[in-house]
Amino acid sequence: MTETALITGANKGIGYEIARQLADHGFTVLVGARDRERGETAVAKLRAGGADAQLVPLDVTDPDSVARAAATIEADFGALDVLVNNAAIAGPYEGDGKPSSTTLPTLRQVFETNVFGVVAVTNAMLPLLRRAPAARIVNVSSEVGSLTMTTDPDGPLWPMAAIPYPTSKTALNMITAQYAKELWDTPIRVNAVNPGYTATDLNGHSGFRTPAQGAEPIVAVLTAPAGGPSGQFTGFRWGAADGAEFGSLPW
Ligand SMILES: NC(=O)c1ccc[n+]([C@@H]2O[C@H](COP(=O)([O-])OP(=O)(O)OC[C@H]3O[C@@H](n4cnc5c(N)ncnc54)[C@H](OP(=O)(O)O)[C@@H]3O)[C@@H](O)[C@H]2O)c1
Repeated sequence: MTETALITGANKGIGYEIARQLADHGFTVLVGARDRERGETAVAKLRAGGADAQLVPLDVTDPDSVARAAATIEADFGALDVLVNNAAIAGPYEGDGKPSSTTLPTLRQVFETNVFGVVAVTNAMLPLLRRAPAARIVNVSSEVGSLTMTTDPDGPLWPMAAIPYPTSKTALNMITAQYAKELWDTPIRVNAVNPGYTATDLNGHSGFRTPAQGAEPIVAVLTAPAGGPSGQFTGFRWGAADGAEFGSLPW
């Protein structure tokens, strides 16, 4: 039976590539997009490449939009096999970008999307995920959310000191762990996956991985045999001491 996958923020970047690759694996992909036109353009492109794709208008910061998205998926499919919480923002760059330059409105704005949006969407979709035989949730996280990596003076993240985006991903990691625990005795697997530093609009295209490469570890988790691990943080391992590019990341 064809599985359905909702990807938030799938109109561009890594989210678009997740949708494209999942469609290649035979999924019906529900393209979450906050802007209808950008979403329709992405859906048309995916369909032109052979994907079974459908637009789901979805602004993760808007409770009405989240509720409407869940109602649409319920009406059209009755259940949901995969949720990818991918939508995120970096927030405006303020001053020198350091913790001491951070303003609360920016911090709130980033958390609205990257943290509160994830909880809102996950809770709205959970009734549909529970109806699927073996649902999976992937929260698209980042190595910059890893307390262990960010405090390693010999690691690649040592030169970086910022609050909004990194702390939003640390919170996302904890949210992943908490959902995994709640859903431990169900078939639903909940994991955080790091695409690695990827050239997208989020970072002014400064990343060294392509969006297709960034999507790969996420799609690998979602297409793994049912009954896999839950509550894990895996993906691309930047500067890993053992040289292994993919695997577990430290929290
Ligand atoms: N790029 C990296 O190096 C990197 C590294 C680690 C993790 N990640 C994570 O990977 C994920 C995808 O990021 P990306 O690099 O592909 O960024 P991107 O190209 O900027 O794409 C972000 C997507 O999220 C959407 N979005 C933002 N706010 C939204 C909202 N309120 N509701 C719904 N959609 C919203 C954007 O829609 P619009 O087009 O309408 O703005 C866009 O589709 C994020 O979770 C990011 O934190 C990225």
